[in-house]
Amino acid sequence: MAVQWSVLTMSIASVLGLVLSVCCPVRGSPGVSQDLDYGGVPLWINRLLGEPSVLSLQGRMDRAWYRANNPDSCPDLCDCPIQWPTALYCDHGHLEKVPDSLLDNTQYLFLQGNNISYVPSSSFTNSSGLRWLILDHNNLQGEGLQPDTLQNLTQLKYLFLNHNKLTAVPSGLPSSLRQLRLAHNLISIISPGTFGNLSNLTMLLLQGNRLSVITETDLTGLVSVNLLDLSGNRFFSFPSYLPPSIQQLYLSNNSLSGLEENSLRGFANLKFLRLSHCGLLSPSIHRQSFNLSSLVELDLSYNKLTTIPLVPSTLQYLYLEANHIQEFNVSSFCSEVGPLSYSRMKILRLDGNQMSYHLLPTDWVYCLRVLHHIYI
Ligand SMILES: *[C@@H]1O[C@H](CO)[C@@H](O)[C@H](O)[C@H]1NC(C)=O
Ligand SMILES: *[C@@H]1O[C@H](CO)[C@@H](O)[C@H](O)[C@H]1NC(C)=O
Ligand SMILES: *[C@@H]1O[C@H](CO)[C@@H](O)[C@H](O)[C@H]1NC(C)=O
Ligand SMILES: *[C@@H]1O[C@H](CO)[C@@H](O)[C@H](O)[C@H]1NC(C)=O
Ligand SMILES: *[C@@H]1O[C@H](CO)[C@@H](O)[C@H](O)[C@H]1NC(C)=O
Ligand SMILES: *[C@@H]1O[C@H](CO)[C@@H](O)[C@H](O)[C@H]1NC(C)=O
Ligand SMILES: *[C@@H]1O[C@H](CO)[C@@H](O)[C@H](O)[C@H]1NC(C)=O
Ligand SMILES: *[C@@H]1O[C@H](CO)[C@@H](O)[C@H](O)[C@H]1NC(C)=O
Repeated sequence: MAVQWSVLTMSIASVLGLVLSVCCPVRGSPGVSQDLDYGGVPLWINRLLGEPSVLSLQGRMDRAWYRANNPDSCPDLCDCPIQWPTALYCDHGHLEKVPDSLLDNTQYLFLQGNNISYVPSSSFTNSSGLRWLILDHNNLQGEGLQPDTLQNLTQLKYLFLNHNKLTAVPSGLPSSLRQLRLAHNLISIISPGTFGNLSNLTMLLLQGNRLSVITETDLTGLVSVNLLDLSGNRFFSFPSYLPPSIQQLYLSNNSLSGLEENSLRGFANLKFLRLSHCGLLSPSIHRQSFNLSSLVELDLSYNKLTTIPLVPSTLQYLYLEANHIQEFNVSSFCSEVGPLSYSRMKILRLDGNQMSYHLLPTDWVYCLRVLHHIYI
């Protein structure tokens, strides 16, 4: 009893004192690397990982200093830091093409923030050791990246192509890729077989594109993907044929008609699911849709839900802010309450609904007994 009362007291305190006061600490939570690395250059070399951390321009040394102190030749309009001889920075200039005479030992090539519209297939013939290729914020379109341009780059792990004008996922991607970022392009097509050889790809970012459907063979071959971001596309129904290995699936900002009983079937590892701003209505969500015991975080904020959907008792973070919820039924969280039957929910957001603290049934604390915060 004592434990439960202290939970209740803490919950009341958070209702009174913390309503709407938290946003970022809650959202930043479980193990998701935020995509803050658009367009940045490494701040420092992470000597433990042996690879750079691409975060910001802060602390960058003066270009003239590099030129004066580096005995190696360096392409015009690029920086070749002496403390990191395998990196070449040619970012935020006005380059319209990849520089000639790339250094043979270049492994990290930063070309973001230029005006490159075409990368001929011979561009990297002398740079077969490339590990990172950053082409964010350029002018790549249609056939801008030739199918054989990247094919021989057997060391390429990270490919950044965010913020270009590509209309299809490039073909000829090397099988060594671990992360592929294609956010904010005009992609409406994934050709069958595009990902056929990418068995080591773990992250695929496609948010902010024009995809409306995933066909059976589109994503074939992506056996290791754990993060797939399809937010801000043109899906009108929950996409099928997604790789079953996914742990983080982001589908916010699509106009989804609803979820079927089996929409999430087969995702044995799905932990984080984001479906905010999807226009979802309570009747269009099948009662069993979210009954998936692997789920840890579920974001259903900014929809049109009128009731709290049934969620598994293993769920720890549920975001339902800015919906039209008017009732709180404990059976959404607990089918029964007992010594071992209770909800593992830590954070529950219900702010911006037609809820008030007085609408909570008296027995809710027996179900939500490990709650850290509730926002109403
Ligand atoms: C590759 O290296 C060869 C020999 O050094 C050179 O002739 C050629 O121009 C280089 N190609 C590119 C694209 O830099
Ligand atoms: C970028 O290149 C295109 C030609 O490919 C040119 O028309 C345009 O003016 C360039 N933009 C800038 C900002 O230099
Ligand atoms: C890739 O490698 C093959 C075999 O070494 C070679 O014939 C081909 O020209 C290379 N392609 C590019 C674009 O460098
Ligand atoms: C996959 O790899 C094989 C062998 O390297 C190659 O022949 C084939 O063209 C590749 N497929 C794609 C879609 O790149
Ligand atoms: C995929 O990853 C494994 C384990 O790191 C590695 O042995 C293998 O060579 C990689 N495959 C490719 C095509 O790079
Ligand atoms: C979705 O759209 C809203 C409103 O336009 C925007 O504030 C939000 O950042 C978007 N979220 C994602 C994940 O795209
Ligand atoms: C959730 O699914 C499990 C089987 O996966 C089932 O046993 C359980 O009854 C379901 N829960 C509810 C509340 O329907
Ligand atoms: C809560 O939901 C259950 C199952 O849908 C229903 O049987 C019950 O009547 C509801 N309770 C209240 C108070 O609305």
